[in-house]
Order: sequence, then C-alpha cells, then structure tokens
Amino acid sequence: MKAIVQDGYGELDQVLRLEDVADPAPGAGEVLVRVRAAPVNGSDWHLMRGLPYLSRPITGLRRPRNRVPGLELAGVVERVGPGVGSLDVGDEVFGWCSGAFGELVAVPEGQVTRKPANLTPEQAAAVPIAGFTALQAVRDRGRVGPGTRVLVTGATGCVGTYAVQLAKAFGAEVTAVCGAAKADLARELGADHVHDYATGEPPGGFDVLVDLYGNPTLRACRRLVRRGGVVVFVGGTGGRWFMGTDRWLRALVAAPFLGFRARPLVHRDRLEDLVLLRDLVEAGRLRPVLDRTYPLADLATAVEDVRRGRVRGHAVVTP
Ligand SMILES: NC(=O)c1ccc[n+]([C@@H]2O[C@H](COP(=O)([O-])OP(=O)(O)OC[C@H]3O[C@@H](n4cnc5c(N)ncnc54)[C@H](OP(=O)(O)O)[C@@H]3O)[C@@H](O)[C@H]2O)c1
Repeated sequence: MKAIVQDGYGELDQVLRLEDVADPAPGAGEVLVRVRAAPVNGSDWHLMRGLPYLSRPITGLRRPRNRVPGLELAGVVERVGPGVGSLDVGDEVFGWCSGAFGELVAVPEGQVTRKPANLTPEQAAAVPIAGFTALQAVRDRGRVGPGTRVLVTGATGCVGTYAVQLAKAFGAEVTAVCGAAKADLARELGADHVHDYATGEPPGGFDVLVDLYGNPTLRACRRLVRRGGVVVFVGGTGGRWFMGTDRWLRALVAAPFLGFRARPLVHRDRLEDLVLLRDLVEAGRLRPVLDRTYPLADLATAVEDVRRGRVRGHAVVTP
C-alpha cells in the first residue's frame, strides 16, 4: 500500500515521504480499515517535528516510534481479525488509531465505531480527537451548563469549532476569541459574542475560560475569569522543551493565590465519548467544519496550511 512514512524529525517537506510499504494485517481483536480520510490537527506540526522535547519519551526519542503518522480516521472495514465481534467487512467506521496517513491501517476493535450516518467520511474523520478534547474541556473540566459564561480562545481551530458548539449545546453563553477573518465562522457556530485577538484582551468576568490557544499569562487568566472561576488549560504556545505545559504547572501552584481554579486537560481517547459525539452529530447539535481535502502526497502542505491559520476548522487528507 501507499503510505506517508517519517524516519526522523525536521522540516516536514524533508521528513515526510510517500512510499510503498507492506499492507498491515489485523491481529486478534483488530480490524483492517481502508482509510477514506484522515484529518490534520493544529498539533500535527509539533508532533511531526518531535516537539515539545518533553513528549519524546512517548513519541520516540530520535525518530517517531510509529513510522506512519496519523492518529484518527474514517474508512471502511476490509478484514476482521480473530475474535472481533462488533464489526464486519464493509462497515463504515471512524475513530482513532496509529498510522492513518496510509491506505490501510489495523485498528483495535474498541477504537472505531459506526460513522455518523449524516456525515461524509471526510467530515467524520475530523470528529474524534478534536471532539474528545473539546468535550472533555467543556463538560469534564469546565463543567459548563445552562447560563455558564464561557470564553473560548482558539475558537475557530480544529478543537475550538467543537468547543464553541458544545458549550452552546450545554446552554452556555459563549464568547469566542479568533482572528477577524474568521469572526463569521465563530458566529455560525453559535457564539453569542466574538472577540478579535488583535484588539487586545476581552473584558473579564467569565465563569470558565477554555484556553485552547494557550497565550494568556496567569495574571491575564485572573482578569478574564471571575473570582473562583475556572481556567481549563488545553493548548500551549512557545518553548521547544515544554510548549506551555510549564505554564499549566505554574497555574496549579499559583491559582489559589490568584483566585481562580486551574484545570489542565490531557485529553483521553474514549469510545463512549466517540459514541456521544456521534449522537450529537446525528441529532444535528454538532457539526464538523471541514474546509478542504488534500491528496496523501500533499500531507506536508496540509500541515503547513493548518499551522499558518489558512484553514477554517479542519483539513483532511484522502489516501
Ligand atoms: N491538551 C490536550 O489534550 C490537547 C488535545 C488536542 C489539542 N491540543 C492543543 O490545543 C491547541 C489547539 O489545537 P487546534 O488543533 O484547535 O489548533 P488550530 O486548528 O491550529 O487552531 C488555532 C486557533 O488559534 C487561533 N489563534 C491563532 N493565533 C492566535 C493568537 N495570537 N491569539 C489567540 N488565538 C490565536 C486561531 O485563530 P485564527 O485562525 O482566526 O487566527 C485558531 O482559532 C493546540 O495547542 C493543540 O496542541 C491539546
């Protein structure tokens, strides 16, 4: 099969190559999925460059542990391994995996489920990880409910497009922070108010700040939320070693003195959340924002376009 392979960290147009590799075979409890679409997220540029360095014990010290990148997909089950009970050949599925930027991938049965009926594979592929992150930030860490006043930074990105919709679905009053060029998208997603980050800090007093972009200082966080309010730390900027996660740790120490509650999020891939996201999509309460698709060979361009903010919501690669 054809797949993108990566044997080192560095400039993406130099380290990502389209190659012929052996077809994967499904092991016990696995299905072989023919990939229809695999999304590119804001974090892919960092992951593919091996950043932050702190993550390398997990992702691979000198080169990626997984030679074929890509962590989520939508596709069709082509073969089932021994012991698989819930899926069959021909099922259209979506979920998370390791090696989505190839034509075929073997995936544990519990990591994929039936694709939302009302989405194309390209749209469905954009749901899992950005959806998990937004859901766990808004529901679990932010505990957002009816009337909660929520501020979302990075609101028009891969995660933010879901965070705004989910906060609205849970009854919140949402202020979205994004660039002026995407203010219309934030409003389409349901944001009650939109703030252009180029005009400085928005007025404070929010119950919950869902910080997806990761740039307000801890003092700015204090100004943005009311006394006793919650800051959910999701994204990080700056610093090749920690990429903002040091700020999360400082927040945990300093928050009691600054008067807010700090809740960092490391999202978890969970089948029950994938099923919930599918239910919300099928009920018309949540939709992926898919901007454009790229052939597999153009993965590096897709990652660069997302990183440069040229994409509204998601870009997906179609092997
Ligand atoms: N903690 C976790 O478990 C977890 C999981 C997934 C992702 N993440 C992190 O979450 C973050 C967001 O990921 P993503 O995939 O949604 O990224 P993305 O698609 O690249 O979105 C970036 C967003 O940030 C906005 N932005 C750009 N420059 C900004 C600035 N100077 N000030 C404020 N906002 C600015 C962009 O707005 P414009 O396009 O309008 O400029 C866009 O809305 C990343 O840091 C990623 O690593 C964390």
